[in-house]
Amino acid sequence: MKNTIYMAPMEGLTDFTFRNAYEKIFGKGKIAKYFTPFISPNKSEKFLAREIRDIDREHNNGINTVVQVMTNDAKDFIWTARMLYDEYGYNEINLNAGCPSGTVVSKNKGSGMLNEPKLLDKFLDAVFEDDFIRENIKVSVKTRVGVETDTAFPEIIDIYNKYPLEELIVHPRLRTDFYKNDLNLEAYDYAVKNSRSKVVFNGDIFTRKNFLDIKKKFPQTDTFMLGRGLIADPGLIDVIVSENPEDFSRDLISDKKRMKELHDLVFDARLHIMPGDTHAIHRMKEMWCYMAYVFEDCKKEIKAIKKSQKVADYKSAVDIFFNVAKLTEKDYILFSKKF
Ligand SMILES: Cc1cc2nc3c(=O)[nH]c(=O)nc-3n(C[C@H](O)[C@H](O)[C@H](O)COP(=O)(O)O)c2cc1C
Repeated sequence: MKNTIYMAPMEGLTDFTFRNAYEKIFGKGKIAKYFTPFISPNKSEKFLAREIRDIDREHNNGINTVVQVMTNDAKDFIWTARMLYDEYGYNEINLNAGCPSGTVVSKNKGSGMLNEPKLLDKFLDAVFEDDFIRENIKVSVKTRVGVETDTAFPEIIDIYNKYPLEELIVHPRLRTDFYKNDLNLEAYDYAVKNSRSKVVFNGDIFTRKNFLDIKKKFPQTDTFMLGRGLIADPGLIDVIVSENPEDFSRDLISDKKRMKELHDLVFDARLHIMPGDTHAIHRMKEMWCYMAYVFEDCKKEIKAIKKSQKVADYKSAVDIFFNVAKLTEKDYILFSKKF
């Protein structure tokens, strides 16, 4: 059975510059859906310039983009959906019920929506009461399994089950885990067994071994959302969508070359929208927080990238890095250190 792969929404990482470059160099039709980092509707009923740039159809040509929305106000969700449909032609929207950030959770948004299941129910009820939504918009949810404990997860699943969700993407962690700690695979298993909607797995697939382990535990899951794994090792996609991921033979030399191409496309596109020495480099360094882990023999070269402050220095440090570093396939990766 072939696996279906989605690219996770990642603020600061998977903006349109990355999505397009990824599709061109690695994706090539293999990513079924690209999720945008969340847009956050406000009372003005207008999108921010940054949000418009990211969802603009011109910037999402030839890729299947799903826009993620973060709000706990059904009215805001509905006008956003309407505008995304009418003005941008989107008919599938993902609700963020997973963001762990303190400022978000304190407003009962993101994973904070799981704090009060009754409010989540009320929100979804109002969304699906709306004729426009029911008739035009596929609504999916990306959820964690709780805030501080998973005890309410069965109740949360019961709530999701009341509505015709397009799919339920489960990142089986608590809000308090942020992006660390072991996955709660019992909770994922509960979702698989009890969700009425199709369940998509998300979390810690960074390597072929991670993928095979999860697939072995959940053979019935055929759709996987990957975030950090595709930033770190974009060529992992070829393994996962292959007929036989266990035996698929990778060309790591070519993958490294393609990573450089991907890097350069993203950097150029970011420099175009964020000229100057500061912002684009800063954003690229966020990618290096993950990419650095799949290479060997390159401590000194990584340090030079980290230290670089000017575009010219950064580019030359990156060139040297790709000449020297060796792309490797590891069984496990622990993204721990700050870049
Ligand atoms: C830097 C960063 C930004 C993220 N931004 C978002 C976001 O905008 N919306 C969202 O639903 N999840 C966001 N996530 C969570 C990822 O989509 C994903 O659920 C999480 O990283 C687990 O998947 P992974 O282990 O494959 O990376 C973010 C994660 C990170 C590390």
